[in-house]
Amino acid sequence: MRSVSAAALVFSCVASIASAAPTFTFNNDPLHNGFPNPSADQLTTIEKAAHGSLPIAAAAAKNATSKAPSADSLTSLRFIAFNELFEVAFFTSLINNITTGVDGFKISNATTQKLLLDDLTAIQAQEELHALNANGALKANKQDPIQPCQYVFPTTNLEDAIALASKFTDIVLATLPDVQTRFAENGDNGLIRGVGSVIGQEGEQNGFFRQFGKGKIPSALPFLTAGTRNFAFSALNQNFIAPGTCPNLKDITDDKDIAIFAPLAVETDGGNLEPQTQNVKFSFAVKEVKSEWKGTNSDWSGLSLVYINQQNAPVSEKFMNVQLTEGTQGIIITFEACFPFDGVGFGNGLTLAAVVPSSSDISSVVTVSAATLAGPGLIEVN
Ligand SMILES: *[C@@H]1O[C@H](CO)[C@@H](O)[C@H](O)[C@H]1NC(C)=O
Ligand SMILES: *[C@@H]1O[C@H](CO)[C@@H](O)[C@H](O)[C@H]1NC(C)=O
Ligand SMILES: *[C@@H]1O[C@H](CO)[C@@H](O)[C@H](O)[C@H]1NC(C)=O
Repeated sequence: MRSVSAAALVFSCVASIASAAPTFTFNNDPLHNGFPNPSADQLTTIEKAAHGSLPIAAAAAKNATSKAPSADSLTSLRFIAFNELFEVAFFTSLINNITTGVDGFKISNATTQKLLLDDLTAIQAQEELHALNANGALKANKQDPIQPCQYVFPTTNLEDAIALASKFTDIVLATLPDVQTRFAENGDNGLIRGVGSVIGQEGEQNGFFRQFGKGKIPSALPFLTAGTRNFAFSALNQNFIAPGTCPNLKDITDDKDIAIFAPLAVETDGGNLEPQTQNVKFSFAVKEVKSEWKGTNSDWSGLSLVYINQQNAPVSEKFMNVQLTEGTQGIIITFEACFPFDGVGFGNGLTLAAVVPSSSDISSVVTVSAATLAGPGLIEVN
């Protein structure tokens, strides 16, 4: 078993992050480019910085003869806008930190600094267009666009910030294929191609994030880890959103098919694991899952920890070394579960972890997500 360092817990506890770090809002965005409501001129400036333009898809959706997207597809568009707004906020904060030389973000070599800012400026503008595109599709279908929340970022240095960008990009890459599948199931085929173009785009970004700093190989896996809309929406809300600051959260959560799960903290090394089989420590607050979970406080025996890695069958593990502690959040269950790394079939890249009732159907990422009581725990190896 590996030792646990509190300083390494990047993703563990929203409350402590929120109180420690300043929140980001677009109202105090130092870059002032009009986002998320740019004028026509400001949009042209964003498009130049992004090296390309908004697609025609939103214009086509305005065509009165084309079919309106289903309610579920509108939820996906709202989710995409919600996520992309967060990404823009993150890269805006990062660019500002590097430009102004905030402690932990200073780059002494001016050439190196300029090259990195060139990369990040394009990425930020591209994310702005992703957000505007999703909001444009909502507006074209007479729906309110999603407005930004206030955000908290756990990172205080460049290397950790880029590693975090890689982690949330991994989650996006896990999720957009789920969104495409839902579009197809809803008969909204016209929305699939544009999402596909963004998947490749985010993959290009991630190759850069992976090589930067930690020097990982740019392409993590032959088939990236599968996710679901609910896992990604939960991870965003649990880790980066200042609670109660999202103007349109209810527009999204009005759809009964979207959920914010109880958080599942990965206590071991903030989820950045060594490539080896090991016990990993997790924790969650009982009261968060109580309404869905029929067990009693001390009866965790009916629960399992499930891992999703690559496009392979989910892996179920038993709770071990369970401890119950009483804290400010009520009873916390801390447990360990084996992480059966083998470097091929299981363990490289992103792994999502979820607590489910042991009797659940865990045959696919979709059924695991449907049964999830707490998650996603976020684990990365290599
Ligand atoms: C609107 O849809 C009709 C029927 O599919 C098509 O003929 C027309 O070209 C479309 N117009 C625009 C502006 O996309
Ligand atoms: C920018 O710096 C502030 C102050 O250290 C920090 O709280 C914030 O998380 C940083 N932003 C990013 C994206 O790391
Ligand atoms: C700054 O970085 C560039 C590119 O890596 C390198 O060529 C140059 O020698 C560096 N300058 C200094 C002063 O170290």
